[in-house]
Amino acid sequence: GKGKWKDFNEKDLLLSYNALKVLEARYLLKDPNTLRYIETPQMLFRRVARFLASVERKYGKSEAEVKQLEEKFYEMISSLKFVPNSPTLMNSETRLGILSACFVIPVKDAMTTPEGDGIYDALRATALVHQQGGGTGFDFSELRPKGDVVASTAGVASGPVSFMKVFDASTDVIKQGGKRRGANMGVMHAWHADIEDFIRAKTGQLKDVQLQNFNISVGAYDYFMEAVVKGESVPLINPRKTKIAGRDHEYYITKARGYMNEEWIQEVILSELEEKGGVVSLDESKVITVDEALVIASKEGAVVRYVNAKSLFDEIVKGAWDSGDPGLLFIDTINRRHPVWYLGKINATNPCGEEPLLPWESCNLGSINLEKFVIERNGKVEIDWDGLAEIISYGVRFLDNVIDANRYPLKQIEDATKRTRKVGLGVMGLARMFIKLGIAYDSVDAIYLSYQLAKFIFYHAYKASIEVAKEKGPFPTYDSKLYRDIWESALDFNSLLQIAEVADKPSDYVKKLTSVVDKLDFDLLKGERLKYGLRNSTVVSIAPTGTISIIAGTSSSIEPLFALAFVRNVAVGKFIEIDPLFLEYLRKYELDDPEVIQKIAESGIIGDNVFMPRSLRKLFRTAHEVPPIYHVLHQAAWQQWNDSGTSKTINLRSEEPPETVEKVYLLAWKLGIKGITVYRDKSKQQQVIYFGVKK
Ligand code: CDP
Repeated sequence: GKGKWKDFNEKDLLLSYNALKVLEARYLLKDPNTLRYIETPQMLFRRVARFLASVERKYGKSEAEVKQLEEKFYEMISSLKFVPNSPTLMNSETRLGILSACFVIPVKDAMTTPEGDGIYDALRATALVHQQGGGTGFDFSELRPKGDVVASTAGVASGPVSFMKVFDASTDVIKQGGKRRGANMGVMHAWHADIEDFIRAKTGQLKDVQLQNFNISVGAYDYFMEAVVKGESVPLINPRKTKIAGRDHEYYITKARGYMNEEWIQEVILSELEEKGGVVSLDESKVITVDEALVIASKEGAVVRYVNAKSLFDEIVKGAWDSGDPGLLFIDTINRRHPVWYLGKINATNPCGEEPLLPWESCNLGSINLEKFVIERNGKVEIDWDGLAEIISYGVRFLDNVIDANRYPLKQIEDATKRTRKVGLGVMGLARMFIKLGIAYDSVDAIYLSYQLAKFIFYHAYKASIEVAKEKGPFPTYDSKLYRDIWESALDFNSLLQIAEVADKPSDYVKKLTSVVDKLDFDLLKGERLKYGLRNSTVVSIAPTGTISIIAGTSSSIEPLFALAFVRNVAVGKFIEIDPLFLEYLRKYELDDPEVIQKIAESGIIGDNVFMPRSLRKLFRTAHEVPPIYHVLHQAAWQQWNDSGTSKTINLRSEEPPETVEKVYLLAWKLGIKGITVYRDKSKQQQVIYFGVKK
């Protein structure tokens, strides 16, 4: 029809060369026999919009309403204002049915179990998820340590790290939908007897060699971080030897830490333990502290030995400085701020950390391109808050529909996902939004803007989820009394600055720019929730947007620009990229001379170029030029208004010492961040992006 041809002519022109290359290589459908393309980018966007709108038929929407929604979805994707995560783009309306990017798979201490959560059950589940483009996270802490006994064979256990190698090898073999290699997150909690092996699994001689398909993170509890600060020792535990020191022990720690209330302990945990045949011999009415739990573990012979927490932490820091791994996951923070904490304890996240999930849960993502919401009004540059609110609302509806449209590879995944209906609306293009508003990434104004944007997006996403609940009902495990609103534990902006010891204050300019956020009424919102419920137990999540930001032609996630010109090495080839926004500014200053550009391209940055205008040098500060503290503060600002996780890389200059990593990790914990990862430039052989154009 006429409309379609208009789409082809105009919308395609929004796509950059790199976007087209990525779409061509991995997303556009091909005829499996002839390998000829059977769709164009607009047909792809249309396919996704049509598929996700069609779900509404099940909820009694008329054909006209479904069609109208399809148009809305198509409009927001094709205008590159909202882009769903890769699996949704790749698999909508195809034979492959996974539309979600994030999964957490449980691993119990057995080869297989009747419930299907033994080591090799998990391996099978992982293969099925990877095959279709999903990423998987695991907590390996329940596995008995290396050298422990295996009763059935009278043998010796090889330990969690060896099993991780099996998952890694399997990931190598199974390409995601033939399009990309799978990604994994391996977690081990700081109390595990094999924690030192785990910490060293990817560093030193093993760097660039072992577990190449894994990000690894140490599960760091508050008790552990406190012991680090005080230089105290902590016990290492063999989880096989005690129910107290294993998962069940953590239930009690959990209680002592105060993020699970009495009612929940009574109703959920105790009945669960009773069902298991009373495996716990505790006085059930007693609240025990971590120390008490550890004394019990010790009596049971489960404490293998004690180590100095600071020495362990130094090892972690050394590893991260050397190779980027391990990161930290702050397990207490994650559970304390988990809205549906009453369903159990979270022990792991998906590969990039933006989704802390319960065993078997999955989550689908989609991100809003913030750059598109900078507009000019009466000669002034502003943020289009109304436009943003509208896209947030349709974005949440879209993501909720993904849960219904998904074809789940396993029943356990389907059940866990539909119990909580978690969705993750995120952002990309933040750095470019800052530039267009004339705000430097490494400034208090930028942190303030991050904070306000996060608050606005959370408010409207939550509101949208209430709206969908009015129509379709709340998520099945919604409990209006127990559900925990994350804003009750959000740090305010000034506290963030105080904790980070930053003295500057936000300017009147940025306060005025974001004044609409100050008028949001969270009490009113809560009233609505109590009345109608929520459709989704979580609504937002900050994903890395590695590929979809290329499709949208913007900066990734909440990261600063990586370089002003660089070579991008991806599976499909090498891309040379000069930032188009930067080029625009060069033109303004009449600096778009080929020789100048060539010079800039050699280093990728202009911060050290004294001949460049000062304002440009400040505005176009790249990832490694931004002081680490500003990276951490941006992550903290977004995390306060996020019911899931915030994926971020704290990029460090190559010459940064290990002490910087130590400071970053400690500050992250104090600022209420859920997980932290650093990457020091040139610390790995294979780096996805290199600075400067190589000649
Ligand atoms: O941009 P795109 O939708 O491709 O993904 P992303 O935002 O960079 O990553 C989101 C999530 O997708 C990651 O945290 C992983 O769970 C998953 N992922 C994966 O499984 N394999 C990859 N190669 C990249 C991402």
